[in-house]
Amino acid sequence: METNDGVAATGDAAPDNAETSTPEIPAFAEVPEEVHGPLPVAELHLHIEGTLEPELIFALAERNGIQLPYADLDELRSRYEFTDLQSFLDLYYANMAVLRTEQDFADMTRAYLSRAALAGVRHAEIMLDPQAHLSRGVALETCVNGVASVLAVSEQEFGISTLLIAAFLRDLSEDSALEVLEQLLAMNAQIAGIGLDSAEVGHPPAKFQRLFSRAKDAGLHRIAHAGEEGPPSYIIDALDLLAVERIDHGIRCMEDPELVERLVHALTPLTVCPLSNVRLRAVDTLAEHPLPAMLAAGLNVSVNSDDPAYFGGYVDDNFAQLKSVIGLSEFDCVRMAANSIRSSFASEERKTEMLAELASSGH
Ligand code: ADE
Ligand code: ZN
Repeated sequence: METNDGVAATGDAAPDNAETSTPEIPAFAEVPEEVHGPLPVAELHLHIEGTLEPELIFALAERNGIQLPYADLDELRSRYEFTDLQSFLDLYYANMAVLRTEQDFADMTRAYLSRAALAGVRHAEIMLDPQAHLSRGVALETCVNGVASVLAVSEQEFGISTLLIAAFLRDLSEDSALEVLEQLLAMNAQIAGIGLDSAEVGHPPAKFQRLFSRAKDAGLHRIAHAGEEGPPSYIIDALDLLAVERIDHGIRCMEDPELVERLVHALTPLTVCPLSNVRLRAVDTLAEHPLPAMLAAGLNVSVNSDDPAYFGGYVDDNFAQLKSVIGLSEFDCVRMAANSIRSSFASEERKTEMLAELASSGH
């Protein structure tokens, strides 16, 4: 992939003592975003329930006659101070109470896609947590059909191709997950794969071997959160015991050099979510995020937003902060955009189309 980083766009340097100095032409890397638009990317790590913005939470609560435990938007926003993954999950699950009808799920999905289009997303692989809705008495058809109805028109309306991934909650039993997977298969739900999310520590991949084996037999793609808060051994087990094709987060692989070597060698995609990691205190500050070290090690990393409504930004915000706070180069951003496209489950034809768009994007 050709990038503009390091390209001498300033032309031949004028000698220091030149009498008539040519006006400085900015390097491509300095061309403002509004000139060439956002980086075209695939978003591979996105929980659709994590895109519920505070305004939409209030609007859906009103439509459904639900009394929220917050007086107003400011009070809700004041809860967005997380100490760890669980403190976020508590609020994330509580706010799902406003999602009751197919229309609610459709409106949430439409809101994400319209924002994602502005962020440069050209392809999105979207996780849905069916068990979090079933446990509240919302039918599987309601949540799946609500999201899927909008995904079906996404390419036409937003220019974003999409795939739906059913994510299973690792703090629930494997039997519960298997039961839901069988229901999804029986209703011929348009899912491309399965994922594994929610509270990581204490719920190792080994717990879900039958689930992932069933998904593989059913021809589904397989991904899992691992190495977000959990140890590097969870990444190894997700690969060895669950045969996952991608690791969500995976940042703690950096604690195990042998694992890093394995991941580099196998080109295993790691869907990194920098702003999420800071907000959930997996890392102390963005300045200390391991992403630059992961890139330097040659890992196949991409940038994703995880739960953008909760973590202070969509994928474009993640890139912008990586550039402004840790000085990530345009070259590395383009490299990660290419990684995201290549690591997606899109067709080869669609990948080629997106890579061509990236190459001619001016980035
Ligand atoms: N569910 C939604 N966001 C999550 C995250 N960052 N980690 C685990 N489970 C999640
Ligand atoms: Zn996640």
